[in-house]
Amino acid sequence: MEQYVVYGGTPLVGEVEIGGAKNAALAILAASVMTDETVLIENMPDVRDTNILLQAMESIGVRVNRIDSHTVEVNASSIHELVIEDDYIKKIRASYYLLGALLGKYHKAEVALPGGCNIGSRPIDQHIKGFKALGADVRIEHGLIITEAAHLRGSHIYMDVVSVGATINVMMAAVMAEGVTIIENPAKEPHVVDLANFLNSMGANIRGAGTDVIRIRGVSRLHRTEYTIIPDQIEAGTFMFAAAATKGDVTVRNVIPKHLESISAKLNEIGCDVVEAEDAVRVVSSRPLNHTHVKTLPYPGFPTDMQPQITVALGLSCGTSIVTESIYESRFKYVDELTRMGASIKVEGNTAIIDGVARYTGAGITAPDLRAGAALVIAALAAEGMSTVDDIHFIERGYERFPEKLRGLGAQIEKVENERDIRKFRFRVV
Ligand code: UD1
Repeated sequence: MEQYVVYGGTPLVGEVEIGGAKNAALAILAASVMTDETVLIENMPDVRDTNILLQAMESIGVRVNRIDSHTVEVNASSIHELVIEDDYIKKIRASYYLLGALLGKYHKAEVALPGGCNIGSRPIDQHIKGFKALGADVRIEHGLIITEAAHLRGSHIYMDVVSVGATINVMMAAVMAEGVTIIENPAKEPHVVDLANFLNSMGANIRGAGTDVIRIRGVSRLHRTEYTIIPDQIEAGTFMFAAAATKGDVTVRNVIPKHLESISAKLNEIGCDVVEAEDAVRVVSSRPLNHTHVKTLPYPGFPTDMQPQITVALGLSCGTSIVTESIYESRFKYVDELTRMGASIKVEGNTAIIDGVARYTGAGITAPDLRAGAALVIAALAAEGMSTVDDIHFIERGYERFPEKLRGLGAQIEKVENERDIRKFRFRVV
């Protein structure tokens, strides 16, 4: 079984290059099937989630040409079916973006219903509401969401909750609908804006992405484009909190500092120095960390995808911190693992009350999901002694060459396959 083995206690120091945003890539890949012309996408992260979505696309006839590990050409002129099987949806929830993309282009799509996942229940009522408002019929049969429309017509849609997924899906379905669609209360995440920019580069007419109202004027067709995906805000934030927790000095490169503002603000509050350059941010953690309170919120609030990482850092701060999770109810499952490393955290409902401790100690831990997995690796890097991290396939869903990038900052971490590898690692580091 593949694991990470980590020998902690070394401050992370140096520079790390951030890749393309996974969540933007997933939306953009799905949207790339909306034209029959060839689309070139650059700065594509080479992670499990994007690779599985590419496979799902190939399964319905999309031609995928990998130019190199971060550049892909997509041609959807030979799509031969509009059904996305359960196998893909099970592996990656975001294949449901193909619903909006295929509905928008072919007026029909059938995608397996995404099931639950280990950060809490994830309803899709707002997606369905949006498709229906555009004139589509939506029904659920045999575990599939089946949506079809004789005609898609622009509409005025008010989102009851701020949802990244629903905003993305409805935006794609509306791009070629007749007339104007207005989405009120949309998500404003950088990847929503990136998708709108991508679609506009294909000839769509979308205004207001990133604000409280998105206005889409339908166009009859989309055309070829070449597009570069934005940097990954969450990957960058993960390295920034790794610097904080390990008392390090890390510069994240190839980032958009504006996208990192809520993260930088919290790092400042807990006593780190954060220095912004044009496309880089440096985090220096040279003083004892202060406690703080944080609540996850839709962008530009503090991201739920950074909640485990800040909790790990606050677990090592002076005093009591409160972290409130307002997006997903079950996103504190990793706390039990962190407790085994010596953290003092009590979870009550959607709130974690954290009494800072002086140190964590290495342990055998298991990644419960993608972001919590990365956060536990940060804890292991800060901890005294050796840790093993199981179920790293979750981490590989969204972090490219994670151990390699950490080693570039001086971390002692390795991906291992068996006891012998672990013994070799121990022999080298201890
Ligand atoms: C996306 C991200 C995920 C991130 C999350 C929050 C992708 C592929 N995934 O997930 O990494 O953690 O945003 O930033 O980009 N909701 C409803 N009804 C709906 C849809 C959502 O009630 O129809 C609720 C959800 O239960 C949740 C909240 O809205 O409480 C936000 O969900 P949403 O923004 O849709 O998250 P995802 O798009 O699934």
